[in-house]
Amino acid sequence: LSTETAILLPSAKVHFFLKDRATYEAANRLQGDWRFARVAVQVHDGGVEDAIRFYAQNPSPEILFIETDSTGQDFVGRLDALSQNCQANTSAVVIGPVNDVNLYRSLTAMGVSDYLVIPVPEETLAEVIATSLIEKLGASGSRLIALAGSKGGVGVSALAQAMAWISAETLGQKTLLLDGAGAWSSLPVGMGYEPAGSTSEAIRAVVAKDTDSFRRLIFNAHEKLSVLATGTESMLETSPQIGQFEEILNTTMASYPVVIADLSGSVPSLQKTVLSRAHETIVVATPTLSSLRQARGVMQEIKKLHGGGASIDLVLNMGGFAPGKEVTKSDIKAAMDCDPAAVIPFDPKLFVGAENEGKKISSEKAGQEVCEKLLPLVRKVVSREAASTATAEQGGLGGLLSKLKPKK
Ligand SMILES: Nc1ncnc2c1ncn2[C@@H]1O[C@H](COP(=O)(O)OP(=O)(O)OP(=O)(O)O)[C@@H](O)[C@H]1O
Ligand SMILES: [Mg+2]
Repeated sequence: LSTETAILLPSAKVHFFLKDRATYEAANRLQGDWRFARVAVQVHDGGVEDAIRFYAQNPSPEILFIETDSTGQDFVGRLDALSQNCQANTSAVVIGPVNDVNLYRSLTAMGVSDYLVIPVPEETLAEVIATSLIEKLGASGSRLIALAGSKGGVGVSALAQAMAWISAETLGQKTLLLDGAGAWSSLPVGMGYEPAGSTSEAIRAVVAKDTDSFRRLIFNAHEKLSVLATGTESMLETSPQIGQFEEILNTTMASYPVVIADLSGSVPSLQKTVLSRAHETIVVATPTLSSLRQARGVMQEIKKLHGGGASIDLVLNMGGFAPGKEVTKSDIKAAMDCDPAAVIPFDPKLFVGAENEGKKISSEKAGQEVCEKLLPLVRKVVSREAASTATAEQGGLGGLLSKLKPKK
């Protein structure tokens, strides 16, 4: 599994028209893949003629797989007929009997997005669908790093800010830092901004595709680092739109190669939404029994959310704040089944000092050492080379039509 496609996929429809039994069964098993929880898979018996009839009556899906026995000009003609019954954004994948490079080339040149040979294993189907849907969503290359706390006040916001600076400054990536804590957010003080609106306003703006209103909510801390400056809402009311927080991810991941989400102070449902889509999750805990117990629980739940395949790391913060009373390294390993990916020392002068002044911890020597420990965790999913965020539309079947027409 590539890290890029190891995320909960967006809502979409995928249809198959198949004859080969093994491929048919593989397609039917897709719905059991955790990434496909929101992908509606329909598997039909048949081929291109059945599909032509079907889409004369029914709307076409985001991705359509068509199996064919013949690969000659007659089939290409029938694909053209099919394309007239499909929406322009439908991608077509052809499944055929032979491995034929020339056929592959001519089909892809016509707008067919892929050509596969029977029997197609489940993993290949899953990877082709995941890659295509991520491309359509415009999130290709964008990486989501989520930080959650095992309990309140363990330093999630402090470490999220440090990681955001690492991504923007050290790795040179255009980065967005966001949180779902609303009025409870501590980022305004730590990053030095006044909230420009509420989380509901941000959600309404992205749903309405109102870029001007959304841009007004962005605070630019640095040429490469932006923060979604929410927090004007009431402290004691839950934002009515909070259930649609994922819309913010959908929009921002199309234009920021790196999105870092500080989940401290967020309601559990929002945490779950973001954690389901994160490429890398950091659980922050202090080396105390109560904190580690919660960390273990939440890490198990996150693993389950990702069907066991999550990239999740434990970061121990405030090491040394309770000398003699902290859980030892060996006990942590035994209880957690993993070593902490980083241990950050208790240093109130550094952390509270930086927070009060709204500046980054790396402006202090001790802060640079902390950043060096956190760097590998950002690097894990973000490379120095700018990840591409191309939102180019994949040539759909509509593209097939337009390419065939001029030749006639
Ligand atoms: N390693 C550390 N040493 C000393 N102080 C720290 C350390 N990490 C964070 N702090 C300080 O501890 C306080 C709590 O940290 P922070 O606000 O980042 O925690 P949080 O997990 O986001 O809390 P909340 O649950 O309220 O969102 C802050 O004042 C922060 O500056
Ligand atoms: Mg916080």
